[in-house]
Amino acid sequence: MAGHSNYVPQSAGAKWLESRLPVISLIRGSFVDFPTPKNLNYFWTFGGILAVILVSQILTGIVLAMHYIGSTAQAFDSVERIMRDVNFGWLIRYLHSNGASMFFIAVYIHIFRGLYYGSYKAPREISWILGVIIFLLMMATAFMGYVLPWGQMSFWGATVITNLFSALPLVGESIVTWLWGGFAVDNPTLTRFFSLHYLLPFMIFGVVILHVWAFHTTGNNNPTGVQPKSKQDTVPFHPYYTIKDAFAIVVFFVFFAWFVFYSPNYMGHPDNYIEANPLVTPAHIVPEWYFLPFYAILRAVPDKLGGVVLMFGAIAILFVLPWLDTSKVRSGAYRPLFKQFFWIFALNAVALGYLGAMPAEGIYVILSQICTTYYFAHFLIILPLLGFLEKPLPLPASISEAVLKENGGGAGMPAGAAAAPETK
Ligand code: HEM
Repeated sequence: MAGHSNYVPQSAGAKWLESRLPVISLIRGSFVDFPTPKNLNYFWTFGGILAVILVSQILTGIVLAMHYIGSTAQAFDSVERIMRDVNFGWLIRYLHSNGASMFFIAVYIHIFRGLYYGSYKAPREISWILGVIIFLLMMATAFMGYVLPWGQMSFWGATVITNLFSALPLVGESIVTWLWGGFAVDNPTLTRFFSLHYLLPFMIFGVVILHVWAFHTTGNNNPTGVQPKSKQDTVPFHPYYTIKDAFAIVVFFVFFAWFVFYSPNYMGHPDNYIEANPLVTPAHIVPEWYFLPFYAILRAVPDKLGGVVLMFGAIAILFVLPWLDTSKVRSGAYRPLFKQFFWIFALNAVALGYLGAMPAEGIYVILSQICTTYYFAHFLIILPLLGFLEKPLPLPASISEAVLKENGGGAGMPAGAAAAPETK
């Protein structure tokens, strides 16, 4: 991450530290002097937004864990106690539960940004793959967190999803018993989910550090997809992007706060305010909104094992995406055909989300099957073919050229103006 720092320790203390543990030059090289493409748009602020939400989730989670009781006899009541008796417990809990949804909103925007601008393509494959690992860890964390309040959806969601493993031939049933720690979702399941739900965010934190390290090694992608060619194409990360990121974070947190203060249960399910009851199955078991597209894929296949394979396959395919997209051009901005297919893919993902919330019957199943087929066709057929069939638009010679053209190339703005901060 370092290597870009202009830092020269001045005081005796700073020199002493630098020769023993160069953390200051590491931080300066990564977040102060780091040369960043000067044309990043607001979609590039979501990485920073995600980092702040991750910290917020960990902090609120630690406080919740001080009051939560991980036992089936007391979990539901302990959450209710947090809401009513713990000072600002309602706030901490709503920040945490809505924070999970905010995390997924931000991560989906971040992923789709990467898909549009080709951030997964060489040389950023490792940043992308680490991102997919983070995404998987996030899903596991959110799934286990949802079980902790021990409401009806907690219990039944956990039962349905853990039961999926029983579809595996021969070992399936044993795996499910092993996951549960017994013969049903019960106290051992709850306590291990609590333990893992506490652990995984710290693992996510570790993978995020690798993620940042990876794209700081290759340099950031940018809306043109063209690599910076000279110093003219970049600006130091601070103050340009620290300020831009900070502004975006504040705006995002206003949006977040609106849910926390005005509609804190909007994204939750009312049945989770009913204590878990193994004898009463809810009419419709639905996961949280961020799992719905994958849930639709699961239910699109009549065969249980087939559904499980396709659901995991839908994420696994992202690991090989850098090698499925054959186009030499990185950014979707210069790929007229890809652009159209990108939006169809995005609509298809939203449609899958809608279908995941509908009952698995009649027309909904047929539509889920069509959308699932399209999901895989996008990666396995459309992207590989587009690289050969599409005629991309001419790329700008450099980031600076693209920026100046966008600003009118001199109409009202002096030609060197956009590059000015760099020329100092
Ligand atoms: C906790 C979750 C995550 C955090 C904190 C995080 C953080 C960041 C940050 C700070 C950046 C640089 C700024 C930006 O491009 O927005 C970034 C870039 C990137 N992220 Fe993530 N990320 C997360 C999850 C993901 C996921 C799930 C994926 C993909 C599946 C992903 C893929 C990428 C890629 C490919 C880049 C490089 C883009 C570029 O160089 O411009 N990230 N991430």
